[in-house]
Parts: sequence; structure tokens; C-alpha cells
Amino acid sequence: MSRPTVRPERVQEPVGGRRFPAAFVWGAATASYQVEGAVKADGRGESIWDRFAHTPGRVWNGDTGDVACDHYHRFREDVALMAEIGLDAYRFSIAWPRVVPDGSGEVNQAGLDFYDRLVDELLANGIEPYATLYHWDLPHALEDAGGWPVRATAEAFARYAEVVAARLGDRVGHFATINEPYVVAELGYGIGTHAPGRVEPEAALAAAHHLLLAHGLATEAIRTSAPSVEVGIVLNFHPKHPATAHMLDQEAAILAHDRLNRWYLDPIVGRGYPEEAVCEAGWRRDEVREGDLDLIASPLDFLGVNYYCRHLVRSPLLPPLAPAGGEETEMGWEVYPPGLVEVLEFASSRTGNLPLYVTENGAAYPLDTADPTSDPERVSYFERHFEAALTAIERGLPLRGYFVWSLLDNFEWPHGYSYRFGIVHVDFDTLERRIRDSGRFVSRVARGGLP
Ligand code: FCB
Repeated sequence: MSRPTVRPERVQEPVGGRRFPAAFVWGAATASYQVEGAVKADGRGESIWDRFAHTPGRVWNGDTGDVACDHYHRFREDVALMAEIGLDAYRFSIAWPRVVPDGSGEVNQAGLDFYDRLVDELLANGIEPYATLYHWDLPHALEDAGGWPVRATAEAFARYAEVVAARLGDRVGHFATINEPYVVAELGYGIGTHAPGRVEPEAALAAAHHLLLAHGLATEAIRTSAPSVEVGIVLNFHPKHPATAHMLDQEAAILAHDRLNRWYLDPIVGRGYPEEAVCEAGWRRDEVREGDLDLIASPLDFLGVNYYCRHLVRSPLLPPLAPAGGEETEMGWEVYPPGLVEVLEFASSRTGNLPLYVTENGAAYPLDTADPTSDPERVSYFERHFEAALTAIERGLPLRGYFVWSLLDNFEWPHGYSYRFGIVHVDFDTLERRIRDSGRFVSRVARGGLP
């Protein structure tokens, strides 16, 4: 199903004397609510993140995505930056409430027009669009009707996917259905730190199933309306290592691994849900209907792997340990490059030769106020993770591309604008963009440098 990509000859900067394959895809990623702003423009409906961010106490500093990076109006400038950096591809997400404002009713052509313009601008600049259909901005009307714990949400998603694929599938070669279903279910419905902010562990289990079902239904819908596109899903993985060699820590680590890394990947590759974790969670599987697991296991064209860090797991039955004290980013996430090789090896133990992409990897570091484009820690973070990607390739894993998170500093969910992940600095007063040293490093690795 792959469509050939014509790319100019390029000279790549070796990383530690090793080179990526010539056809390797270098990209950067963003997500609609994190960058677009323009939340009322051209008929966009309300999303769960609009409501959540406007609820006092939910997001640090009362920040919202109302303006964000104003990517909705400045996308041409952003595409020009991508071209200047020399990116091959841009991973962005489509805001469901722009396309179907109430989630299941009328289609808003004006919302689709925005993505049409964006895609055309990308293609005119030689940049391949990789679209994600759901990066967390559920139309609020669907949440009012029950949200992801309700089956109808999955059905509405499939119809939305079909609409988007019919409109963009002639130019967008890669569609990912859902970004990080674990985070949607667990943080949105289990612990409530993300929209819609519900603390209902049972609903979270139902949500997880319906997110996977939505992925399966949408995969079929996309194949019907745009048969030539490649379809995948984006999952987040963390190695779950026992904090000590204690048997209980080992058990806790295995459970955490099953709950995160296997719960989503295993059903997608036809292995069903991990039984011990299902038992431990006390999930009765009332939501699972006959045929669901077959739908969820619809064949894929690629898997997107998001990797940030490793987790050291301590059994709740043992006394807490002092923090390990290793190198961390500003988010408190451990810097652990070998974990990237590990999660890719784990994924491919399930997916074999299916093409893999690192669809997100990156780091937040404090802003250098004297020179906001100076980010040596981020350069070092990327350098070490790119080396890890090379190791994965040298070990024979089918890694085809790498999208850094993120193109721009943006709205970092419950943390608002406090944490910056951009390879491009954004001044949130003026919205001026400036390529950081890390952007220049990505550029050199990808194709031999900026002028
Ligand atoms: C991932 C999200 C992405 C971004 C990064 C830091 O979990 O997919 O939107 O917030 O974390």
C-alpha cells in the first residue's frame, strides 16, 4: 500500500559517525488543541479541552488553548519554518469539532477547508502530511452524551474518519486514528487530570475499549473511502522497570507493563487483552461485543510509537523509595535513551515487519530568557535518542521515520504554557517564532544543515 515518496538527494549529517537510511522520514509533530487557537473560527464546535481549560483550577495559571500558537492563521509561516529546517514530514492532528461541530451531526465544510489549505501548503513545500484524527479534542456534545465510555462515541468517530479521509485522502498518505488511547482513558476518565476530568475507574476501562473499537471502525471506514492511504495508530510506551529486584516490585512492574504497553498493542495485533491485568483491574468486559476484537485487530500499515521516558515501578505494598536522582527533564521525566530501543523492540515483537515510526519524542527544558533559541540540553537529548534510533535500525527493526515533539512551544495540557517542547521558540506575547539550536540540530541530521 505504500506510495512512493520522491525526495531530493540530500547529504545527511552523521550522528556519532553513523547514518540514517536515505529514505528515513524526518518530521515534527503538533496537535490541534495545542497549537491551533482560533477556537471559535469558521463554525468550530466546543471540545472537552475548551471546557476543561476554562474551568478554574484545571490548568496551571488558568491557561487555555484559545489562542495557543495561532497556527490556524499562521500555518503558512509554520510550514515555511518546516521547509527551512528541512523536514520531510509534518505530523498534525485534525480537530474533530472543526469538522463535525457536535460530533455526530452536520459536517462543517469550513472546518475541513482549513486542513485542505494546510495540506496543500505542505505539499507545495515538499512536506508529507501525516494526519492524526484524534489527539484528545472530543466534541463536547459527545461528552455530554457519555463520552468515550459510551459505544456511540466510537461509531461517531468512524463516521468522522470517513468524512476526513474522503476529503483529504487523495493528498494525505498516512492517517493515524488515535493518539495515545491510554492517556485518553486513564488521565481523562480514570484519574481526571486531563479533560473531561472524570475520576471513574470503571468508565476508564469502558473508554479504553471504545477507543480501540473506534480505531478499528475508523480503519475500516478510511479504507472504504480512501483505499490507497496508509492507516495506523499512535501508542505511548514506557519501559516499566522494577525499582528494585524485590519480587513485589517485579510483580508491580509486570502489571504496570501489561496495563500500559500490552493493553492497547496486544488487542490491535490480535492477541486480545492481557488476562492478568484484566483480572487485576476487575474488568467484567461488559462493553465487549461479539466481533469487536476482530475489528480492533484490523490489519494496519504502520505503528506510531511515542517515547519519552522509563518508569521505575515500586510495589504499593513496600515502603516508598527516595527518588533515584538520575538525569531528568523539566517535567521530571528521566532521560533514558536506551528505553527507545527497548520500546521499539517490544513493539516489533508484536508487529514483526510492520513499519514503525517514532511519532513523538522530545523534552521540556527551562526557557533561557537571555536567548530563548539556546537549548543545549534539548540538543543533547535529541542526539542521544537519535543514536538510540540508529541502534534500533542496526538491529534490524523496521523503523522508517522520526517525528520530534514538538515543532513549536505549545499548550502542554494541564501544564498550560509552562513547559516548552519546541524546536522552534514561540513568544506567547507576540507569537513570533524563532528556530532553536535543537531545530538547527534536527536540520543538520536530516539533510546537511541550514544556511
Ligand atoms: C504526549 C502527547 C503530546 C505532548 C507530549 C509531551 O503524551 O501526545 O500531545 O503533550 O506528551
